[in-house]
This record gives sequence, C-alpha cells and structure tokens, in this order.
Amino acid sequence: MLKDKHIAVYVTGGIAAYKSLGIVRALIKQEAIVQVIMTDAAQKFVTPLTFATLSQHPVITDNFTPQTSPDDFIPHIQLALWTDLAIVVPATANIIGKMANGIADDITSTSLLATTAPKLIFPTMNTDMYDNPAVQKNLQTLQEMGIQIVEPAEGFLAEGMTGKGRLPELSVIMNAIENNFTEKKLAGKKVVVTAGGTKEAIDPVRYIGNRSSGKMGLAMATVARDLGAEVTLITTVDAPLAGMNIIQVQTASEMMQQLQDVFPTTDALVMAAAVADFKPLHVADQKIKKNDDEDLFTIELTKNPDILKTIAATKNKQFVVGFAAETQNLLSNAEKKLAHKNADVILANNVANEGSGFGVDTNRITLLQKNHEPTTWPLMSKIDVAKKFWDFYINR
Ligand code: C5P
Repeated sequence: MLKDKHIAVYVTGGIAAYKSLGIVRALIKQEAIVQVIMTDAAQKFVTPLTFATLSQHPVITDNFTPQTSPDDFIPHIQLALWTDLAIVVPATANIIGKMANGIADDITSTSLLATTAPKLIFPTMNTDMYDNPAVQKNLQTLQEMGIQIVEPAEGFLAEGMTGKGRLPELSVIMNAIENNFTEKKLAGKKVVVTAGGTKEAIDPVRYIGNRSSGKMGLAMATVARDLGAEVTLITTVDAPLAGMNIIQVQTASEMMQQLQDVFPTTDALVMAAAVADFKPLHVADQKIKKNDDEDLFTIELTKNPDILKTIAATKNKQFVVGFAAETQNLLSNAEKKLAHKNADVILANNVANEGSGFGVDTNRITLLQKNHEPTTWPLMSKIDVAKKFWDFYINR
C-alpha cells in the first residue's frame, strides 16, 4: 500500500524521537520513499546519521543547505511538492503551536506550512503540557484545519510520571499512515456500530454495568470510517474519534431508541455493545441509603429489550452483525444466537481465553454465518479483527 509513496517524516525534539526510527524502518520495509526532516532539538536526541542510514536518504536539517542540484534550489518548496503524506512524529508542543499559528522559522515549520499534501501529527509530551489549554487550543485549531491528529497513549512517561502523552504503539501509527492510502471501499455505505457496556440506573448515583471496554466497537467504527463509510457510533464509552457521528447513550433503552431512528437507512449494523440483559425494575429518585439493621438488600430486575433481535426483525436490505461473548460452549451458543437473533453474522469470542477478554487490545474471533462452516481467525489486534471483518463484508 505504501510502495513508492513519498512520505516526509518530520522529527521534532521530544524523547520519543528515538521511536521514530522504528517508524522509518517500518515505512522502508513497505517500500515507501522516506525523507526525514529534523529540527535542531530533535538532533539533540538522535543523530541525523541514524535516520539517514535507516531512511536510505540524507536528512534535511536546515533551510540554507547549499544547492547541490537544480532540483533542490528551494528546499522547503521542493520538499512540499514532493510530499504525498507529511507526518510529524513526535510532535512537540512547539511545532503544534507553530503549525496552528502559521509560524515558519526553520525548515520544519516552513516546509509544513508550504505542504498541501495531507498531514498527520502525533503529539507526545508530558501530561500537564498536553493538557495545557494553550496546547489544546492549538490542537483544536489544527483539527479544524483538517490536520489528522492521533491522540497520545496513556502510560509510563520518560520523566517518571504516568499519564497521557506517550507515542502510541507502532501498529496504531502505521494504521493511521496507511489510512491515507486505503482504497475507500465502503464509500457511500452507511454503517452503524454500537459500543461499550450499557449502564442501567439503580438510583441517581449507581448503576449496573459490565466489563466491556468498547474497544472492539471503536475499532469497527474506526476501520469503517477509514474505508470511507458514513459511520454512526452509538456508544456508552468515551470515543475520541473524528470523522463520524457519535451518539452517547447510557442504557439499553436509549441505545434501542437511537438505533430505531437510524436503522431504516443503514446498510450495515454492527452490535458490538455489551447490552445488559436486565435492568432494575424501579429506579429510585433519590440515592438509596443503607439500613444498619439489614444485611441483605434486594434489587428487582426486569428484562431489557433484546436490541439486536428486535431491530433485526425489521430488516430488509440491512446486513446485521452480532457478537457472542461466551465463557463456555462458544460455538453452540453462538449458533443459537445466529438463528434466534436473525443476524447475518455472529462474531463469537471466548472471553475466558487469554488475549480475548474484556479490555485487552486483541481478540480471537470465530465468524458464523448461515449455511457456512464457522471460520476461526487467529489471535490479532482488535483493529486487525475490524479490518478482516470489513474485508469479509466487502467481498461477501
Ligand atoms: O444474548 P447475548 O447478550 O449473548 O447476545 C450478544 C449480542 O446481542 C451482541 O451483539 C449484543 O450487542 C446483542 N444484545 C442486544 N440486546 C440485548 C442483549 C444483547 O442487542 N439485550
């Protein structure tokens, strides 16, 4: 996909600069043509020689290198015109500020300003710097300008703090890069994805919930968007995803209501949400107080609607996908769901298996469809599961 694509990799001065070496390697492996540009600060972390060796190309470090051929007469303009995709990795608060405000005071900021090709940035910095309103405002400006931003990951930071600010995993980075060259095979399709566990209120402060992280649903929505679909994501979890219509809900009833509105015009529905089967029969108006004399407390539950079953019963052209998260008898339980819920496909996974439980980034899926033998996919990242699923949908 990246073969012969011209990728300009801008490295700015953060500790994650050393990780950009791995990105350059991955790009070269995919036969992209890589031009690295480094700020002065970046060169304090990693030498241009290292990047030059890995990218198989001299690194551009300043605007005033003497002309060596008629082609590099005006370096920043030549570079800008050459570029198919510009990535800034890591992107410091400094370059984010410059890009948001049109400042051009070195080869990096000047070339980025001159580049009309798509731009993709990976902010990485200390959590407090990232949260600073000035940085957030600049990021907002960049987003409004159509610059792609991949949020930093949470975890252990170089300065010893734990928080948001790390460079995301290589697979996430490569996915964001490749997305710029993906054929839009779902263009014109309307896709609805549900994600997360529903929260069924007990009283104004408490609810019954489950362990679903929503990651599988978010991956399904992300990949569908990247393939050009018009995506509506109905979610109970936070979804910092651009380029789709996001509807936040809490309960199964709210999810059902929202789905009923969009389903008639939907091409494909993916029910990745973990919908609670039961909800409290009565929701207390006020916070329930504990009674010192009673050790037992009973909440009466009533059945939630089976959203998938109800919605799928009204389908005509829609392709409907359900999930089956099981801890035993995976196949027989999933087969039953396929029949009972009127789904076209059930994606089954044993949540008791290592690597496919709630909250992890990987999943092992068995795909079931009527009149076909089940197929089991190897353990893979949830993004790869989503890619494989949409590939199946496109080619079915
Ligand atoms: O019956 P079970 O909960 O195992 O079925 C899982 C599938 O059915 C998932 O796709 C889930 O989103 C959907 N579901 C639903 N409404 C419910 C329960 C599950 O749509 N009340």
